[in-house]
Amino acid sequence: MKTLVLYKDQFEPLCDTLILPFYEGIEFPKKDIVLNDDLESTISYLVREKLFIGKFNQVESFRTLKEENPKNIILIGLGKEEDLDLERIRISMSKAIKKAKEFKSRSVEIHPFGMSSNISYFDSCRALVESAIMTDYRFDKYKSKSETEKCIDIEELNILHPSSKKTEKVEDGADEGKILGMATNYARDLVNEPSNNLTPKDLANKALELGKESGFEVEILEYEKIKSLKMEAFLEVSKSATNANNEPRLIVVKYMNNKESDEILGLVGKGLTYDSGGLSLKPTSSMLTMKSDMGGSASVLGAFKAISEAKLQANVIGVIAACENSISAHAYRPGDVINSMAGKTIEVMNTDAEGRLTLADALHYIINEEKVSKVIDVATLTGSAVSALGSFVAASMTNDDEFYKYLKKATYLSGEKVHKLPMYDHYKEQIKSSIADIKNTGGKEAGAITAGFFLKEFVGNTPWIHVDIAGPSYLDKDKDYLKKGGTGFLVRTLYHFVNEYNK
Ligand code: BES
Ligand code: MN
Ligand code: ZN
Repeated sequence: MKTLVLYKDQFEPLCDTLILPFYEGIEFPKKDIVLNDDLESTISYLVREKLFIGKFNQVESFRTLKEENPKNIILIGLGKEEDLDLERIRISMSKAIKKAKEFKSRSVEIHPFGMSSNISYFDSCRALVESAIMTDYRFDKYKSKSETEKCIDIEELNILHPSSKKTEKVEDGADEGKILGMATNYARDLVNEPSNNLTPKDLANKALELGKESGFEVEILEYEKIKSLKMEAFLEVSKSATNANNEPRLIVVKYMNNKESDEILGLVGKGLTYDSGGLSLKPTSSMLTMKSDMGGSASVLGAFKAISEAKLQANVIGVIAACENSISAHAYRPGDVINSMAGKTIEVMNTDAEGRLTLADALHYIINEEKVSKVIDVATLTGSAVSALGSFVAASMTNDDEFYKYLKKATYLSGEKVHKLPMYDHYKEQIKSSIADIKNTGGKEAGAITAGFFLKEFVGNTPWIHVDIAGPSYLDKDKDYLKKGGTGFLVRTLYHFVNEYNK
């Protein structure tokens, strides 16, 4: 999608569809909106007759039935001006883009004049572009050509501003929106890719390719190297697949672009390319979507794509322990006691609680070998987080409330919802083992929290945030600018986190 910001005051639409956003309780005509007489009278009629009142989520559209542009008009309601936020802008824009696609439109133009008094043009422009690009996403590489040829993509998006607003860096907002929208779609592609075509080795190759394209360093550690590092918990989870020639990979990505700081931010992503549950086998219905168990690593790679393309001034290292949790005579077992890179022994209560085992080693590695100063892990870790918070909100935990403040700021900018769970000491009792240092499950209660406590055992005093994205990283139906399947959840938040943290 080509995006362009145009400054002009006359009415001369270049695109076939014109999108006009309005607040609730609008007066029309307004003097800052210049339209031709025909359109002005049609919209005046809709407003006068209260057919369109600008309520949030309201969409009213019509064809002009003329040869010249615009051929279609879409009015979108933004709701009350004081209630407008960036997420409302994204949601309204996604409604408009879907409508434009119904009209078989290939080029759209939006006039966001006077879009808001409490949101900058920079931010609202970013949200508009982000939303358009995310809404236009489709994953159809496995459909035959005849079906995909019918699909219409929006090729051109123009954002119009009155020339008096030229000072507000609107173009930069649009550029950032484009980077973020595409980075999110990149992560969605990774998650949507079936496990037979995205093994740990394939994921490593994707990272290498992305690093070359977007401009960051990538290092891939193979089995022997992982073994010599004594990442035994990671290797135990990988063991069954390793014996079927599907070996694990440790993917290390580096973007070092702030010489003035010796701080390095660490990002760890869960990278289970498939989670069958292992010997603690999942039922088919739960297994069905487990290609998405590398959602955390997709978010980390998507964030690296955006961070490096936007050339943020920051030092960031990402680590992904990529493997498959498979079942066979070579698989690790419930009841086994295994070791970890940190030297802590772990009693395996359930082989389906595999994510935390791989993350324990990845966290230890990134802190002790890559020497990051602070770390965030992102993981599709527990069904318990989904039970507690549903599909639109991620669960988070931290050992450092100061560090956590940047996540709050970042989620405000991204619109992604993350809710903090408590870390009372008594939860730790649940993961005490009678024969090893720790066990990998904490019983029926508070499963998302005990999983977080398990990870905390492997970060020492390093400031750390854990985000459990099991709910929002994969949707079973379309929602606003997202579609059924991988969502790229947290790509945009991680980007803003890194940006805010280095300001
Ligand atoms: N990958 C799953 C968590 C998951 C569940 C992600 C649903 C996305 C949707 C994880 O490895 C898992 O199996 N967790 C178990 C832990 C339990 C055995 C303690 C769970 O949540 O049931
Ligand atoms: Mn599992
Ligand atoms: Zn898993």
